[in-house]
Amino acid sequence: MSFNLLKGKKGIVFGALNPDSIAWKVAVRAHEEGAQLTLTNTSVAMRMGETQQLAEKLGTIAIPADATNMEDLSNLFTQSIDHFGGKIDFILHSIGMSPNVRKERHYSDLDYNYLNKTLDISAVSFHKVLQTARKMDALNEWGSVVALSYVAAQRTFFGYNDMADAKALLESIARSFGYIYGRERRVRINTISQSPTVTTAGSGVKGFDRLLDFAERMSPLGNATADECADYCITLFSDLTRKVTMQNLFNDGGFSNMGMSLLALQQYEKGLHHDCDCGPANDQHIYD
Ligand SMILES: NC(=O)c1ccc[n+]([C@@H]2O[C@H](COP(=O)([O-])OP(=O)(O)OC[C@H]3O[C@@H](n4cnc5c(N)ncnc54)[C@H](O)[C@@H]3O)[C@@H](O)[C@H]2O)c1
Repeated sequence: MSFNLLKGKKGIVFGALNPDSIAWKVAVRAHEEGAQLTLTNTSVAMRMGETQQLAEKLGTIAIPADATNMEDLSNLFTQSIDHFGGKIDFILHSIGMSPNVRKERHYSDLDYNYLNKTLDISAVSFHKVLQTARKMDALNEWGSVVALSYVAAQRTFFGYNDMADAKALLESIARSFGYIYGRERRVRINTISQSPTVTTAGSGVKGFDRLLDFAERMSPLGNATADECADYCITLFSDLTRKVTMQNLFNDGGFSNMGMSLLALQQYEKGLHHDCDCGPANDQHIYD
């Protein structure tokens, strides 16, 4: 259903690799809500993935850019402004990659060149996008910029590795730049901390299937889907959230405020049964 929430607005969406990508769903929803868009991804992702096909479907262009490369970013903004015939109202940063995760380097045995890449691609690129936009004065007043994060920025998760450090930095950049851009140009900057979601990047995390199941059992509302994340992004790009800035906003079905749930505990008990002779807890209701 469309509410025309983004009618007349123009945005850049980073990171739509394939139909599973969160950015893909955001681009489709933003288009439905009346926005004009340009899409962007790395040249390699554009060759291997389906960014170009999505651009055709949405009647727009896909502009290759490595989000860590300042020249690529300034070309992206120039081409987008040309395409729209005006400045930009919203940006989605939906980018994450860790060579340490990919190469299965343990967190206590990181390759520091890889770590630099993780941080550059997954966090510093957000600063580079914002710095380029500000220097080019590419965003309209009351513009909105959103990056996608994960709760491992605040709490430790097995297997999330150096991406946890990248997400902590990403969220900090949203606050620090949010102050400057808000004060000067009324541009708001937020991160959305999303539930585990089945995508190419998500599935790279060690033990991802179990993490997905655990989060589902722990969250009173269940995991938020990519479509639900897209809906939340639309509200943040819209004029309905003009005073929301410098926030990390959880779209996670309640997971981040849970300690233990009945469903997770029941699953844990099954494991205990399996591993040892300790009997089941005999007073079920104490776990409610
Ligand atoms: N999937 C999850 O469980 C989950 C949960 C919380 C947050 N997130 C975050 O959501 C965002 C999107 O990830 P996704 O899950 O949709 O996976 P995805 O693999 O579909 O998207 C990641 C995108 O990053 C792009 N990318 C990588 N390096 C880049 C670079 N140098 N320049 C520009 N783009 C680059 C990839 O090409 C890809 O399009 C990421 O920030 C991710 O950390 C994902």
